[in-house]
Amino acid sequence: MTPLQANEIRMMEKACQLAAETLFHVSQFVKPGITTNEIDQIVYDYTLSKEAKPAPLGYHGYPKSVCTSINDCICHGVPDDTVLKNGDIINIDVTTIKDGFFGDTSRTFFVGEVSEAAKRVTDVAYGAMLEGIEQVQPGNTTGDIGFAINRYVTRKGYYAVKEIGGHGIGKSFHGDPFVPSYGKKGKGEALKAWTCLTVEPMINETPVALKEYPVANSSIMYYHTGDGSLSAQFEHTILITDSGHEVLTYWDWGD
Ligand code: MF3
Ligand code: CO
Ligand code: CO
Repeated sequence: MTPLQANEIRMMEKACQLAAETLFHVSQFVKPGITTNEIDQIVYDYTLSKEAKPAPLGYHGYPKSVCTSINDCICHGVPDDTVLKNGDIINIDVTTIKDGFFGDTSRTFFVGEVSEAAKRVTDVAYGAMLEGIEQVQPGNTTGDIGFAINRYVTRKGYYAVKEIGGHGIGKSFHGDPFVPSYGKKGKGEALKAWTCLTVEPMINETPVALKEYPVANSSIMYYHTGDGSLSAQFEHTILITDSGHEVLTYWDWGD
């Protein structure tokens, strides 16, 4: 990714704030009884009301405006008639295009009362994202981010997904570099000031290999854990500054 100009950084901030607001808005509707199609419609309507576009819609043929990944779905779950039920966890992943810039953020939510196991994997996914974000500064590498994530997750007794990860973002949805959830310190790609990337570790309860499935009529795949165990994820879009970073999709649920 080429470094952004000052005015482009302001546009990125706007796109990312809108993505965060959209995620916050839709979160109020996450309750037993709602369908993922209804969540999709809420994201679509809210985004258009802000003169923006939902990036997933039509992206490589993806049919919906948001990804909704329930329980053992690792990512890219496609909204449908599935009804959320008490005890589910759901990652809602919002990507917004505003004035040509992309903001990408996601969070795992609890549907009603969830099990202790569900709380634990969600908590580890959140902590893993924060560990990764801490490494984002010029001079560091994507390997530093991945190393920090994987060390944290392993110590907690969980497993970071290796096949899928974060990405460069800005005037396009997915660009260089790939941001892995494992790695070696100092390896991978150097982080460049005034570019943006996402940190979005996906965390599983077991090391069982994931299963991938094609999204109908598109080149996007969605992923499930191999054994039906839970997976959780959080995502922020981060600007690398000359001295560190800024979380552009910042939201505050009070936790
Ligand atoms: N928002 C996802 C990410 O974090 C990408 C979704 S692509 C889609 O990179 F086509 F599945 F929507
Ligand atoms: Co992303
Ligand atoms: Co995303």
